[in-house]
Amino acid sequence: MSAGNWAGGYVTDVSYTAGYYVEQSPHLLALSAAVSGAVTDVGEHIDDLVYVELGCGRGMNALIQAVANPGWQVVAVDFTPAAIAEARALAREVGIDNVTFVEADLATLAEDPAAALIPEADVVSLHGVWSWVPMEVRAGIVRLLKAKVKPGGLVHLSYNALPALQNVLGMQRVMREAGLRLAERSDRQAVAGLAVVRDLVAGDALNLRNHPVGELLQRLEGLPHEYLAHEYMNGTWAPVFHADVAGALAEAKLDFIGSARPPENFPDLMMTEPQRKVYDRFEDRLMQELVKDLCSGRGLRHDIFARGHRPLSPAGRARAMMDMTLALTVAPEKFIYSLTLPAGQATLNAPFYGTVVEALAGGPRAVGELVGLPGLDGAQRDPTELVAMLVGTGQAIMLPRPTALADARTRRFNRLVGQRAMQGGRIDAPAAVAVPRLGGGLGCRAVDVFLMDRMAEAGGAVDPDIWIAELGAATTAEDHARLRARLTELAQERAPLWRRLGML
Ligand SMILES: C[S@@+](CC[C@H](N)C(=O)[O-])C[C@H]1O[C@@H](n2cnc3c(N)ncnc32)[C@H](O)[C@@H]1O
Repeated sequence: MSAGNWAGGYVTDVSYTAGYYVEQSPHLLALSAAVSGAVTDVGEHIDDLVYVELGCGRGMNALIQAVANPGWQVVAVDFTPAAIAEARALAREVGIDNVTFVEADLATLAEDPAAALIPEADVVSLHGVWSWVPMEVRAGIVRLLKAKVKPGGLVHLSYNALPALQNVLGMQRVMREAGLRLAERSDRQAVAGLAVVRDLVAGDALNLRNHPVGELLQRLEGLPHEYLAHEYMNGTWAPVFHADVAGALAEAKLDFIGSARPPENFPDLMMTEPQRKVYDRFEDRLMQELVKDLCSGRGLRHDIFARGHRPLSPAGRARAMMDMTLALTVAPEKFIYSLTLPAGQATLNAPFYGTVVEALAGGPRAVGELVGLPGLDGAQRDPTELVAMLVGTGQAIMLPRPTALADARTRRFNRLVGQRAMQGGRIDAPAAVAVPRLGGGLGCRAVDVFLMDRMAEAGGAVDPDIWIAELGAATTAEDHARLRARLTELAQERAPLWRRLGML
């Protein structure tokens, strides 16, 4: 593949990874918006929502939203033909008829006849697009949002943020410039450029000494090379201040609501007391977010905007939480009470959360039931904090359709996704499954998808020898024994969650 002029400098010679990011889920966006004190219409459209994704890559998120929410209309756009063709092929093979993939350039789509293919949306999501594309593409996105977001609709927009990534500017520039000189294809350029960065770090280059370059370099170790290419080899990558994004989206009548990550909406969790005092001196959101970003290491923001901010009263917010059903994602004995937050270390109140976790160990429960449990300290019964902490730490998950079961289409989709994820022979490759009870996806490993599928077929039975034969992954007796132990342990560990999610 070669990068033609149509790409405007964006990396197109290697495909991006096919990931699922929970922040793109309208159910989570609605929850986070409610935590931030904003009314949304997502609950009213739980069975007929119109969801649009811009810059959908290989379509994993759009496909999962469509599979897990059969009543929704999902439309996803990207300008890379190979990515659109791959997504359409998967939709066809599984028989997903409520998703449409559109190949179009966001710089000009608003004025293109193809804009007629984009419906008025309840929710629009853009993940990993804004800070990677040129200014004319950002301007085109704003015009499209102006034309296509319903009054009251939500927009989720993630982007690399300043000032957290100010020290990464030099790192990315040298990585790209060196890569362009040392290799041909963008994934190889990224690897070659990264090696130069590491050499400079080893040589104690002054401008690579600072936070967060060190941690970032560690995190990038072992990540797929195509991911590195799309992250760092674009000539137009530019982290931005929240105020500038909010200013641009205001042109589309979009108001900033809060973060798609629930805990980020609690100033006390994001800032120390002296920092909080500065924050409290200002009432406007732009200034508050600037103070928050100065105090935290948020290099990737997941902002939620609404076409018209409608405030939700504290009582309305509590009511919105009470009917929500939560399920534990971890074994009760593995629940972690101590948290590392931008504001410092925090510990969840053990008697309170312990009682809640014990109740959830028995199966999914409504928040209203949880806060009404006998023996709880009255002062701790704030349902919003409870939901934000449980969901925000990933130790519980929200079930918007608490009784839905995986249908044949969901199983077909998950099986294919698992097979594709495992194609490189890596059973630990990142993957995701569609889960109707979640109205979205569950991030996992390729091996989890395989085990979930086989166990569902076998009525929950655990049969590691058959699985190993099928995987063809063990060549020696030692390999076989190791894999047998690993698969058995994984199956036992994961099965309770999969049952709670209606997948087994
Ligand atoms: C970093 S990837 C993120 C993909 C996907 N949202 C994800 O998170 O997996 C950015 C995507 O934006 C697409 N893109 C970049 N510029 C675009 C443009 N002008 N019009 C449409 N899509 C574009 C790329 O093809 C790529 O798939």
